[in-house]
Amino acid sequence: MQHLCLSRLSARHPAARNGVLAIDGVNLEVAHGEVVAVIGPSGAGKTTLLQAIACALRPVAGELTIQGRRPWSVSRRAQHRMRGRLFLAPQVPPLPPRQRVVTAVLAGRLPGQSFWASLRSLFYPREIALARDALARFDMADKLFERVDRLSGGERQRVALARALVAQADLILVDEPLSALDPTRAQQAIASLVSAARESGATLITTLHQVEVARAGFERIVALRNGQVLFDAPVAEVSDEMLRELYAEHEDELGTSLEGVAPFVPSGPMPIEVDRPMTCR
Ligand SMILES: Nc1ncnc2c1ncn2[C@@H]1O[C@H](COP(=O)(O)OP(=O)(O)OP(=O)(O)O)[C@@H](O)[C@H]1O
Ligand SMILES: [Mg+2]
Repeated sequence: MQHLCLSRLSARHPAARNGVLAIDGVNLEVAHGEVVAVIGPSGAGKTTLLQAIACALRPVAGELTIQGRRPWSVSRRAQHRMRGRLFLAPQVPPLPPRQRVVTAVLAGRLPGQSFWASLRSLFYPREIALARDALARFDMADKLFERVDRLSGGERQRVALARALVAQADLILVDEPLSALDPTRAQQAIASLVSAARESGATLITTLHQVEVARAGFERIVALRNGQVLFDAPVAEVSDEMLRELYAEHEDELGTSLEGVAPFVPSGPMPIEVDRPMTCR
C-alpha cells in the first residue's frame, strides 16, 4: 500500500538566491514499510527532499501526498496531526548540551504526545526502559544518564538515532546519520535502524553519503543529482556505471565506495513489490 507520493515536486531552500530549485520536478512513490536510501553528490537536494516530505518546507510546485492526504491542502490542525506521525532526524541533531542522554532520547516522543505528557517526560523521564532499549540498539545503553556534552560526536549521532526510534513514527526520515561514525559503527547503526523500522512496520527514508552502505544495507536506492532523480532502482540493479555517472565531477565523494561491502542487514519480511511508473492514488 502506498505511503508517500511526490508528483513533479519542486522546492527551494528558503535562503536560495535567484530562485534556484533545490529539488526540481521529483516523482517518487514509496510503499508502507519500504526502506529507501537517497544518495547523490553534495548539493544534490537530499536534505531539501527530506524537508519537503516532512512538511517542513512548502513545495513551490507539484504535489505531496502522505497516506492519501495532501498536507498543504488540509487544515493546520490536520497538517499538525500528519506531522505528528512522522519523524525527521536532521543532519545536525539539535541536542541541548547540558541535557541527560535519557531526556534527549525521550524528546523524540514529543511530537505525538499531549503538551502535559511531554512536559512531564522532560522533567521526570518515566519511559526509561524505552530509551534504554533504543540506545542498546546503538550500543549506547551504558550512557543513559550521561550528559550530552560529555559524549563524542559519534556517540551524539547515535543518541539522535535512538531518538528517531522512540518517536514510534509511521514515517522515519533520517538525514546523513553516519558522518561522525567509523565504517563498522556506520554499518551497525544502519542495520539497527533498518531492523527497527522493519519490526515496527515504519517506512524509512535515509539520505547517505556512503554509497557502499546504501548498497549493502538497503533494498532500494533513489539517486538525486541537481535536484532531479537520476535513477530509482532496486539495489541489485544499481551498477558501478550508474554510480560513476551520478558522481561525475564529484569523484572524491564516491571515494573507494565501488570496492563493495557485503550486505549486512538480513532481509526481513520485506521486500515490497511497488508498481512503477508511479501514479499517485
Ligand atoms: N543555506 C543555504 N542557502 C541558500 N541555498 C541553499 C542553502 N542550503 C542549500 N541551498 C540550496 O539547495 C540546494 C540543495 O541543498 P541540500 O542541502 O538539499 O543538498 P544535499 O544533497 O543535502 O547536500 P549535502 O550532501 O551537502 O548535505 C543547494 O545546491 C543550494 O542550491
Ligand atoms: Mg544534506
